[in-house]
Amino acid sequence: MHILHHPVEFAQHCNSIRALAQAVTFVPTMGALHRGHAELIGQACARGRCMVSIFVNPTQFNSIQDLQRYPTTLDADRSLCERLGVDAIFTPDAEALYPFPSPGHVSVTGLDSLWEGAHRPGHFQGVTTVLAKLFHLVGPCTAFFGRKDFQQWRVVQRMVDEFFFPVALEAVPCVRDLDGLALSSRNHRLTERNRQQAQAIPRALGAVAQAYTLGERRADELRRTLSSTLEGSGLSVEYAALVDPATLVPAQSQVDQPVALVAATAGSVRLIDNCWLGVDDASGLVTLATGH
Ligand code: PAJ
Repeated sequence: MHILHHPVEFAQHCNSIRALAQAVTFVPTMGALHRGHAELIGQACARGRCMVSIFVNPTQFNSIQDLQRYPTTLDADRSLCERLGVDAIFTPDAEALYPFPSPGHVSVTGLDSLWEGAHRPGHFQGVTTVLAKLFHLVGPCTAFFGRKDFQQWRVVQRMVDEFFFPVALEAVPCVRDLDGLALSSRNHRLTERNRQQAQAIPRALGAVAQAYTLGERRADELRRTLSSTLEGSGLSVEYAALVDPATLVPAQSQVDQPVALVAATAGSVRLIDNCWLGVDDASGLVTLATGH
């Protein structure tokens, strides 16, 4: 497995693979890899020579504390990538990816100002900027994203379509822990009590998925189910919404395959999760029938 630090070296490596008529696949990450990332990487390895970037991107963080607290587990990440058959890891330092003191940016409008965009101003601009750089370095490829970050996937798809990046996107369903909680690099900061509170999120998504499966299509009713399950959980809920999967605007009256989006804080840990009703396999969520 190659470990590359310099942007030009990374771009040359990707070009040399394409010169052999082999497919390049790409999984951008911020490291602290878990089973969610491993699912993306496994799928990417099965589809071509897999590049994984590990870069904690400073421009997508809203607070310096959040950036400083972000975990780094490079040794473990390396061995996981090696086990999964990754071809190369790209781990640049911040100066290499942001060589100019007042950096330019790439942004998409519309989708980036809703939900996460509204609660974390500038976040998606940081994401699209770093991905524009990474996509230029990798070149034509298939890139894998998690549906855990549903809005991010949609924003990136918009960027790719609008700016004609030669990148095909694959979206991989969310990977969860046994208690239903979506795997996240931030979960290790949850205390036992916070973790119990956080379980209200998969419980709420499970309740709404169950209602949808049983035939409920009224947006207001589904919204009520989502919110009432979160009430009294001890979580500080930022938003719990039912949205159109393409535009992310709130779903109106009768819905067909909407997405339930949740952002909430347990203790000091901010969590986001979602369920695409009628599309996602909801069996990993906590349902009221089984209590699990
Ligand atoms: P990061 O949070 O490291 O996530 C990297 C990729 O892993 C994203 O596509 C994310 O959706 C996916 N992922 C994370 N948890 C997952 C889970 N439980 N199940 C399935 N997929 C999961 O997202 C970022 O990094 C950054 O914003 C990045 C795109 C790298 C740009 O800096």
